[in-house]
Amino acid sequence: MMSDVMMIQIENLYRTFHHAGNEVPVLKDINLNIQEGECVILKGVSGSGKTSLLSLIAGLDKPSSGKVLIEGEPISKLPDLFASELRAKKIGMIFQHFNLFDHLSVEENVTIPLIPSGLQMNEIELKVDNALTLANIAHKKEAEASRLSGGEKQRTAIARALVANPNIILCDEPTANLDRDNSLLFIEILKELHALGKTIVIATHDPLFDTLSFKSTIIPMVDGQIVES
Ligand SMILES: Nc1ncnc2c1ncn2[C@@H]1O[C@H](COP(=O)(O)OP(=O)(O)O)[C@@H](O)[C@H]1O
Ligand SMILES: [Mg+2]
Repeated sequence: MMSDVMMIQIENLYRTFHHAGNEVPVLKDINLNIQEGECVILKGVSGSGKTSLLSLIAGLDKPSSGKVLIEGEPISKLPDLFASELRAKKIGMIFQHFNLFDHLSVEENVTIPLIPSGLQMNEIELKVDNALTLANIAHKKEAEASRLSGGEKQRTAIARALVANPNIILCDEPTANLDRDNSLLFIEILKELHALGKTIVIATHDPLFDTLSFKSTIIPMVDGQIVES
C-alpha cells in the first residue's frame, strides 16, 4: 500500500554532541527519504546512532545541521512546542523499556496521549478501545501496568502509540526485552500496521527483522552513517 507521498525526508543531517571539551560526531550526513506505507529497518550495532536518528525524526532533539521534514513540515526547525504538536498528531513511538506509568491501568496509560485532544469522553473511550483491540491487549484493560508481563507491557505501549491514529510509527529496539514468542507477536502486529498503510521505522539489531513476511527496507548504519547495503 505504498503511495508517493513523502512522509519523512532527512537531508544532510548531522548531530554532534559536545562532551568534556570534545566534539563527538554521532550522525554524519544522513540522507533518507521514506514514503507513506514504507517499513524501514535501521540496523546497526549499539552506538551506531539509531536512537539519535529516531529522536531527530520525532523532533525530540534538534540537529547540529541539516533537516528533517514530516509530510513536508520541517519538524527539526520548529520551536519545541510546535514540534510536540506535530509529533502528537503524526507520530507514535514505541520504546525498548516500554515507558509506561506503572501505577496506572492499561486503559489509563493508553488514554494519556488523548488528554490534550479536547475530545469528548465517549470519543476517547472509543479510540482507546480500538487501539487496545488492535494491539491485542483489550482483555487486560483494567490491569495495573506493573502487573503485566513484558509482552503485555509492549502491547500496551503499542496501543498507546496507536491511539491518536498517527501515520508514522517509530520503534526503538522494540524486541530487546521480549522473548521469542512475544517478539514474533510484535512482528505480527507490525504486519497489520503495515497493511493499514502506516509508515514504520524500526531501530534494531535483532536478526528477527532480517526476514519479515512483508515488504521492508533494511538501512544499515555504521558509526553514525548510512552505508550501502
Ligand atoms: N546526549 C548525548 N551526549 C553525548 N553522547 C551521546 C549522547 N547521546 C548519544 N551519544 C553517543 O552517540 C552514539 C550513538 O548513540 P545512539 O544513538 O544511542 O546509538 P544506538 O541507538 O545505535 O545504540 C554513542 O556513542 C553515544 O554514546
Ligand atoms: Mg539505541
